[in-house]
Amino acid sequence: MKERGLVLWGFIFMLCMLAYSGRVDAGVAEGKKIFESKKCNDCHYTQGPAREKTIKDQLSKKGPELWYAGSKFKEGFLEKWLQDPKPIRPMKYYSLTEKNKGDHPKLSGKDAKEVAAFLMSLKSKDVKAGVIKAKKSARARIVFEKKLACYGCHLVKKGRKIVGGLTGPSLVDAGERLNPDWIYAYLVKPKVFKPVKDMPVYVGIVGDKEMKMLASYIATFKQKKKKK
Ligand code: HEC
Ligand code: HEC
Repeated sequence: MKERGLVLWGFIFMLCMLAYSGRVDAGVAEGKKIFESKKCNDCHYTQGPAREKTIKDQLSKKGPELWYAGSKFKEGFLEKWLQDPKPIRPMKYYSLTEKNKGDHPKLSGKDAKEVAAFLMSLKSKDVKAGVIKAKKSARARIVFEKKLACYGCHLVKKGRKIVGGLTGPSLVDAGERLNPDWIYAYLVKPKVFKPVKDMPVYVGIVGDKEMKMLASYIATFKQKKKKK
């Protein structure tokens, strides 16, 4: 009697799992369709690995490559951002002379959810999950601010002020936007993600332990202070 009950519960559980995974896949397929119909492809490509060999290739698409979006972004970020896209790069993409107007196409809540599901399904095998955890550290801060002057090119929050350079993407909300494991992978294997890039390569200058510390440190950056 007891065993039969267990088998029945097991069966119900499996049905639920099947229904759930079916729904997730439907979101991905639906999201891909929306992505194509909204012409997101005009400015972004979604199939890896990186194809850029020269700056010209890089400039042939107006927006950043999205083929590893599922490894790059934190769960939940894209769904929100796609409905209300705020500039990430303070300068117009790949240009140092024009400001980013912040006129990125917007999606409705429903479309954003499905497109986010599609983008989050695009993973890179070069990003190991669950290795880097957000962690503050005084040493990483010194490396970031003084030793390597990362904020010469990136905006960050210092106390209440936003300071730093405008060449690279803003890191003010990096902890809310970026997956810590991706930050680390990006720092140690930059060529996988950006074969042609503007950011200096730090491999060989910074050891592996310090790279991990830096990635953990960046992952603590938040736009707003948490309310206590
Ligand atoms: C006219 C070109 C253009 C079109 C069309 C376009 N994008 Fe973008 N997209 C950009 C640019 C430029 C950026 C960089 C914005 C920034 O950094 O502030 C961007 C950034 C993004 C990002 C963040 C990527 C990152 O690595 O920071 C996502 C996600 C994204 N777009 C998704 C979409 C989706 C989904 C669509 C279709 C609804 C779309 N884009 C249509 C140009 C475009
Ligand atoms: C000379 C300017 C410059 C310096 C210095 C610099 N970066 Fe960058 N960084 C960039 C640019 C430009 C990008 C955008 C991608 C590209 O073209 O390489 C970027 C991208 C990034 C990203 C990905 C952000 C995103 O949203 O896609 C991270 C994380 C990052 N940098 C961290 C660092 C760290 C950590 C340091 C210091 C060790 C550093 N950067 C120093 C210019 C710089």
